[in-house]
Amino acid sequence: MSSAVLEEAEQIAREFEYPAAEVERGVREYIREMDEGLRQEGTTLSQIPTYVTSVPNGTEKGLYLAVDLGGTNFRVCSIDLHGDTTFSLTQSKMLIPRELMASGSSKDLFHFLARQIEAFLRIHHNEHFEAHERRRLQGTAEEELFDLGFTFSFPVRQMGINKGTLIRWTKGFNIPDAVGHDVCALLQSALDELGLPVRVAALVNDTVGTLMARSYTSPGETGTFLGAIFGTGTNGAYVEKLDKITKLATIEHSDYDKSTGEMIVNAEWGSFDNHLSVLPNTHYDQQLDAESNNPGWQMFEKRVSGMFLGEILRRVLLHMYVNDFSDFLKVGASDVVVPENSNLYRQWGVDTSFLSLAESDKSPNMEQTKTALKDHFKIENVSDRDCQAIKIVVHAIGKRAARLSAVPLAAVLISTNKLQSEDLVDIGVDGSLVEFYPNFEGYLRDALREVPEVGVAGEKKIRIGISKDGSGVGAALIALVASKEKAKVKAQQAL
Ligand code: GLC
Repeated sequence: MSSAVLEEAEQIAREFEYPAAEVERGVREYIREMDEGLRQEGTTLSQIPTYVTSVPNGTEKGLYLAVDLGGTNFRVCSIDLHGDTTFSLTQSKMLIPRELMASGSSKDLFHFLARQIEAFLRIHHNEHFEAHERRRLQGTAEEELFDLGFTFSFPVRQMGINKGTLIRWTKGFNIPDAVGHDVCALLQSALDELGLPVRVAALVNDTVGTLMARSYTSPGETGTFLGAIFGTGTNGAYVEKLDKITKLATIEHSDYDKSTGEMIVNAEWGSFDNHLSVLPNTHYDQQLDAESNNPGWQMFEKRVSGMFLGEILRRVLLHMYVNDFSDFLKVGASDVVVPENSNLYRQWGVDTSFLSLAESDKSPNMEQTKTALKDHFKIENVSDRDCQAIKIVVHAIGKRAARLSAVPLAAVLISTNKLQSEDLVDIGVDGSLVEFYPNFEGYLRDALREVPEVGVAGEKKIRIGISKDGSGVGAALIALVASKEKAKVKAQQAL
């Protein structure tokens, strides 16, 4: 089926190829940036120490609270860890009022969060709540506090397991007076003002939560080595040797348990290679970055994660459509037009779920794709040929993202020597791309095998499993680790 439109699509698809030699070059550079990030602060890969120094093995027990502030919703949950790799979770979710996200003071926001936690405790843990109230009013007896894990998905400079200052807001939040402040302390004082029986025990990145949740629930004895998100954003956290995190000596931080000799590091790999020494950089990538609200930042994330793949595709399709020499969306059905109010003209107007849908559409006439084009972009009567062209570029963009995702994984495995020292390496993942994009893991694994130090034998040792609820159960597990470590450090100090 030769046609100029299909050839054009194939040609654009070739611009998105990411061959084995490039994967390897990416891995070399990632290892370099990784080491640099372990030695000093302010590097392109942040390599943030989390002060979490052990991973769970499934026997952990207890009732913990967790809250998640990261997007448009605020989630409060309590998690009962049963100690046998299972747990039960009770949760409530609410929309964050827009005025609190962008115009209020940090006091208003954290007061709102504390109020939601109070309402949750009253509904789901009323007995505990009232007993605490009685003791508080009588000024009697020891307080029994809930330990809470705080999943806060914004860049922070972490100084302890429950201590970290906000570097900058993202994702539509903008409350300037919080920047530079310890977000755990802000939440704690709002909780204290309401007299709630809650201690903010841990500050949690979603990748660290994913790693912990997977380690608790994963089958067998093996602890999880790495947690990664391939969703709206992309990032990963892994277990590093303490003595390799030499910058710890230069950061003022709280005490932590050093007995395991390890610590989970939050790589913030969305910012891998911001200076573009190895990342692919098509014309579409360049345009997307230039018109984003943070040009030059999160350059890896902008090529890999869900928030951006739709926008890359939008730019490709628009390029083909406005090209006078191309028949794309023009000939064959004279009434095909992209109306002025189509989302194809709107920045961020294409959702990544459209890529998943087009990639998985196996029907001969691509009916699902046609319906989506009509529903989401008001584009009607698209020919089979144009749908095929869309599928060709979708496939190229998605496959490049999956192959790029192999770069940090291979680099971390090589740098930590994991594939040599272990028979099985467990990785927990979460996010819409890895969950819903057809064959994302397959393409990622193909690229992993092409890296000589991984190869077929190494790739076979890697077990990848979806780990749901990192921000709930993972945060609870970190709150548990934090309270245990607090007790241990106290005991060590008493010696
Ligand atoms: C962004 C955030 C990072 C988070 C990731 C996945 O990259 O900076 O902290 O882990 O998105 O949600």
